[in-house]
Amino acid sequence: MRICLVGLGAVGQGFLRAVQMKGEYLRERYGLDIRFTGVADSSGALHDPDGLDIRGILEHKKRAGLGSYPSGYEGMTGDELLDEAEYDCLVEATPTNIEDGEPGRSLVLKAMGEGKHVVTSNKGHLALFYSELMEAASEAGVEFMFEASVGGAMPIINLARETLASCTIESVIGILNGTTNFILSRMASEGSSYRQALIEAQELGIAETNPAQDVEGTDAACKAVIIANSILGRPCTLRDVRVEGITGITQGAIELAAQEGYLIKLIAEISGDRLEVGPRLVRMGSPYAVDGTLNMATLRTDLAGEVTAVGRGAGSLETASAMLTDTITIWRKSGGR
Ligand code: HSE
Repeated sequence: MRICLVGLGAVGQGFLRAVQMKGEYLRERYGLDIRFTGVADSSGALHDPDGLDIRGILEHKKRAGLGSYPSGYEGMTGDELLDEAEYDCLVEATPTNIEDGEPGRSLVLKAMGEGKHVVTSNKGHLALFYSELMEAASEAGVEFMFEASVGGAMPIINLARETLASCTIESVIGILNGTTNFILSRMASEGSSYRQALIEAQELGIAETNPAQDVEGTDAACKAVIIANSILGRPCTLRDVRVEGITGITQGAIELAAQEGYLIKLIAEISGDRLEVGPRLVRMGSPYAVDGTLNMATLRTDLAGEVTAVGRGAGSLETASAMLTDTITIWRKSGGR
């Protein structure tokens, strides 16, 4: 399978490392041989129909960026790379832009327009243009997979759409942002200040480039929109979500809640008549009382009752694991074993 990877931040690099680590496993278990025929970051691109050397890309990326790679193309954009590279599947891991969904939206539409499959970890384009992207995939007859866009390694999209395909999902309630969960957990368990906990979350590399998106609830709202569209079949965009973040949560409020046996968590609720993100009290010891950077989601179904998924909501290799699973799914759907 020839892959063009656009975006080489923590997630893109994680994808390269995951493929490097699992190369033999993928060949033995699935007969899947992944070749990177194109890679782009913000400084330039590389392409080679015979496949690029993963270790070389990673080492060079660390030192100077792809634009300065000896055989690279300085200044070549991801969009230009798609014109040059020969590939079967675009893996799109560009930074999320929730203003206009770019550059992800254009890259995804271009690849699908050329009959290529797409795996994305991005949220912005899905939260703003879900219907348009799905229609484009369907018209082109290609796969468009996005498990990594909601909760990193927490399996929810494919769990709902594949494993629970027999069920109608009535609602999804959960914690969809690791940064705010980390901040609230630290404030509750160690009495850390909000600021100090946010800095720690940034140091862990889980916060968005602009952490306002985390603490103001926008990141969780994007994920709620993706869940509403893809799992509940409820057409909506980011503008339809009622959002409140955690910036107003004080240490005093957290202590008061604890005295009564509660924690404060940033909870997303998605159902037929609710689409909201905001701080709520949850009982200590309940499924919602997960700590640290974990994400969780409880799906209420008609046949299977409640099903809860918990997992690491962010992280380079963790998020890449979801993208690699999507890649394997595409391989299998295209006739691979
Ligand atoms: N900033 C996000 C979080 C990363 O904290 O959950 C994963 O979307």
